[in-house]
This record gives sequence, C-alpha cells and structure tokens, in this order.
Amino acid sequence: SVKDIEKALSREPELNQNAITVLEKRYLKRDNNGKPSEKPIDMFRRVALNIAEADKLYDKNANILASAKEFYEQMVTLRFLPNSPTLMNAGRELQQLAACFVLPVEDSLEGIFEAVKNTALIHKSGGGTGFSFSRLRPKDDVVKTTRGVSSGPVSFMTVFDAATETIKQGGTRRGANMGILRVDHPDIMDFIYAKEDKTKLTNFNLSVGLTEKFMQAVLEDKEYDLINPKTKSVAGQLRAKDVFDKMVQLAWEGGDPGIVYLDRINAENPTPKEGEMESTNPCGEQPLLPYESCNLGSINLGRFVKDGQIDWADLEKTITVAVHFLDNVIDMNKYPIPEIDRQTKRNRKIGLGLMGWADMLAMLCIPYNSDEATKLAEDVMQFIRDKGREKSAALAEIRGDFPTFKDSVYPAKGFKNMRNATITTVAPTGTISIIAGCSSGIEPFFAIAFYRQVMDNNKLVEVSPVFKDIAKREGFLTDELLDQVAETGAVHDIESVPEKWQKAFVTAHDITPFWHTKMQAAFQKFTDNAVSKTVNFPNEATVEDVRRTYLLSYNLGCKGTTIYRDGSRTGQVLNVGTKD
Ligand code: CDP
Repeated sequence: SVKDIEKALSREPELNQNAITVLEKRYLKRDNNGKPSEKPIDMFRRVALNIAEADKLYDKNANILASAKEFYEQMVTLRFLPNSPTLMNAGRELQQLAACFVLPVEDSLEGIFEAVKNTALIHKSGGGTGFSFSRLRPKDDVVKTTRGVSSGPVSFMTVFDAATETIKQGGTRRGANMGILRVDHPDIMDFIYAKEDKTKLTNFNLSVGLTEKFMQAVLEDKEYDLINPKTKSVAGQLRAKDVFDKMVQLAWEGGDPGIVYLDRINAENPTPKEGEMESTNPCGEQPLLPYESCNLGSINLGRFVKDGQIDWADLEKTITVAVHFLDNVIDMNKYPIPEIDRQTKRNRKIGLGLMGWADMLAMLCIPYNSDEATKLAEDVMQFIRDKGREKSAALAEIRGDFPTFKDSVYPAKGFKNMRNATITTVAPTGTISIIAGCSSGIEPFFAIAFYRQVMDNNKLVEVSPVFKDIAKREGFLTDELLDQVAETGAVHDIESVPEKWQKAFVTAHDITPFWHTKMQAAFQKFTDNAVSKTVNFPNEATVEDVRRTYLLSYNLGCKGTTIYRDGSRTGQVLNVGTKD
C-alpha cells in the first residue's frame, strides 16, 4: 500500500541547492503547465520501486519493497546514483533507462537513414549514440544504382548532426554523438579535419580508431595502407607519422579528434563471437557492439571515508546493491527498437563506476598527482570489479548466466557463472555528480571555487564542500580564506592553508598531463569497459606535449585519450575563479 511504501522509503534525500535546481529543471515529472509535479523524494521512490519490480521476473514471491528500500537508501544517501536517463525515465511512460548506445551505419542510403531514425528515437529519451562510419565507402566512390559518386562518411555525419540539432529542442536533454573512423579509411584526413571549423558537427565528439598496425608504423616511421571498406582493396598509403602529427596538432588546437585504440578494445572484447566493437558511446567510456546499449551507475567515493579511513565494508554493501540495481535496469528498460532489446539482453553489460574520487583523495590527504594516489586508484577499482563480479556471479546462480556466457571469454578464465558480460565503466558523471554534490568521475578538482554552467546557462557558484569541511575541522577556515579561494579558484600559495592541505587540494591545472594519464591508466587496469578522462593542458602547452601524452597513454594501456588545452575552445563549461 501507499502507506507502507511511504514508510519504508521515508529518509529525506541529502541534496544541496544545486542538486535540487538540476532535478527541478530536467528530472522531475511535470504537470501540464510545466511545473514539477513530484519532489526529489518522489523521484527516488519512483526509481527505486520501478527498478525493484524486475525481481518478480525471477521470483514470483519476491519482496519488491525490500529491494526498493535497499535501492532507495543507496540513492538518497548519495552513495550510488544511476545514469541520468534512469533517474528521468524509470516509472514513467518513456521508461528508457540507458545512457549509451552504439548503432551500426551500413554502406547504403537505407542503412544510413535507418541509423538516423534510430538516433532520433534514442536522443528523444536522453540517451547518447556512438557510430562507426568506417563501413561507408569513401567519397567519390561509385554508386552503382545512380552512376553517381558517394559523398563519403564526413558528409553523411552532417546529416546525423542536423537530426540531433532538431531533436534536442524537444527532448529531455541534449543527446551527444560519437563519430569514429578507422585510421585506415581512405577519407581519414577529411575526418581528422572535420571539426577544424568549430561551427561544424557541434553535436559530435570525434575519435580516430587507431590500429596496432598504425601505431607500429608511427613508431617505426613507416607508411601504412588505406583500405576501401567496400572493395577491401588497398586504396593508397600514408606516412603514419604525418597522420599522427596532424591528429595531435588538431587536438592541440581544439580538443578534437580524440583517439581510441580499436584493436586494444577488441582484444578485450568479452564476447568476440557476438561481433566486433567498432565504436564507443559519446564520451568514450563504453565500447559496445552494434545495437548494444549499456546502463551506467556510479558510486560516490567521498561517502565512504570515515575518520580519515576508507570503510571497505560499507563500500562492498553499496557495490552489491548497485550490481543488483543495474542488472534489474536491463529488464525494466523499454528499448527504442527490437534489435537493441535483443543485443543488449544477450550480453547484459552493466557499467558500474565511481565519482567523488578527488573528494576521497582530499579527505585522505593524498595529493592527486602522487604514486600513493594511483596505487589507491588501482586498489579501489580492483575492489569494485572483484566485489561486482562476485555479486554478478551470485545473481547468475538464481537468474542464469548472460545468454552468450558459454561462448564468451569467461569460462576459459575460470569463471563458473556471470550474469553480466561487463561490470565496470568509469563514466564522466557530468550531471549525477552535481546531484550528488561531489567531484566528477575520476577528475581532479577543476577548482576549489567556481561557477558552473548548468544545462541552459544557469550559473551556480560552488565552493568545494570538502574543502570547507576540512578547513573547519583543521581550524583554518576564515571568511578571508574563502574570499581568497573564490578569487583564484585554487588554494596553493595561500599561506593560511597548511602545506599538506595545499597539496591535497591540488587542481587540474597544477596537475601535469603525465599524472592525468597515469591516473586514467590506473583505473583502466581494473575496468572492463573504458575510462572517461580528460587530460588537461595549460594554454601554453606545446604540440609536442600532446604528442608525448598520446604515446604515454598508448604505452600505459589506456583505451583512448581525450585532451583539452585550456582556452582552446570557446564556451568552456567551467571557469576557474570568479575574477573575470
Ligand atoms: O551524469 P550523467 O548520468 O547525466 O551522464 P555522464 O556520466 O556525464 O555521461 C554518460 C553518458 O551519457 C555519456 O557517455 C553519453 O553516452 C551520455 N550522455 C549524452 O548522450 N548526452 C549528454 N548530454 C550527457 C551524457
């Protein structure tokens, strides 16, 4: 009954004002006048109850309310939050719960426009789409039926971009796109230059799909073959180093294109018999097969530091509940098309990750740019993966293995059961970290005080609550200090802050690309999918600095790299300090 539900799910959500603003703007149900018709507490109840319902599929007598209560407690205490579409859509008409999709783009007009249609359906529901355009024949290649010539992948990408532009007016949030082209596609140079004009393809992130062959050719300064995907024949050669240098140069200029290591991603494909992974989702953290989708969820690490120590038992509890939650999401999701429903349920991938990493480090007084931090990153991620796998195996005993388990890589590795082909992903947590009031993903603090642009230009001022708490506890919090921090956004060189805390509150700009990359690699080591991370460069960084970072990320085993040089793009989302 409603009474029982209200009683069981009664704890007040621990939200700050920024979080409430964000929820009111996009997440809460609305009435006909566009006013929120539910409160944040109702949203968490709606989500918890809806996701718990999946238990019934496996046990007619399942105690839904008990599971709902577990889910609810994890969410309202901000220990765990699912990705935005789940918060927005669970228990509502749309019921589309996943953030990440990859759609195939076939080399035919029908295929291309089929993908455009499916993109529209996904974006309408707040999901993001990744595509590989590598199967499209190069521009000027013959089109048999019309005796004309093809316009090529880069030209077709603008169709997807325009569709996205139109959809986002009506949708719950702006869906993002990832466009990938293999480095051996004959149009690769056009692709690399596609976003040089910054007014073009504004709804796309671009990444070049790098192969091992290509990377070897870069290292040995050799030429490599371009392959026409339609005829499979060699269409020319390029000097690998020239291509690499151009990519580096353009990334230095404006952040695009990024890179993904396609061969490496496929070497770790858990279900190779299901096909090859050609693309990732928009922010790069989730490689998927064509027509696969994945729902993400993130653990807020700051919540697990108690008296300067990590509470591992509490963390384990959250991991266990989160895996149960995310596995249920797969069943409760209303997929936009049948192919996605089918492919997603064959492998049942989930993406459990984390946020509040910088908070955790600061609370433990560990500088982000230190070996101690990268070691802890490995320990934390290994813990999440191992405990996550244990829970997935336990679920499999009751609910069955994911359908392609026997043909997957797991049996040969000694796994007896697995409910999900992947468990871990490190997402950017762009919005859910605002809802949780924590630092985003595994990123360092961007600043200790800053304006944040939320959704459509609502500017909010934030001072790191973690910093304020510690400054208060350690007895150095003053109004003057807060003013000083607000002005520069940083705490180093402020004399009233003890040196160890200056180091613990290091900000992105004072962390070298080397440490950004080391951190990404440390998390990647224990992440089944991939890790979302931006390697920040100061404005004065050189092209050579970017080049070195790309090679470092390759050597350290990352699955891709995204860089951003301060000031290289207008309309930056975050600005340090309040001075300007
Ligand atoms: O924090 P939230 O759950 O809203 O999302 P996120 O962790 O920042 O992003 C996770 C994934 O959601 C991205 O990689 C995209 O696949 C998708 N996304 C999108 O399509 N459009 C956005 N505006 C934000 C996220």
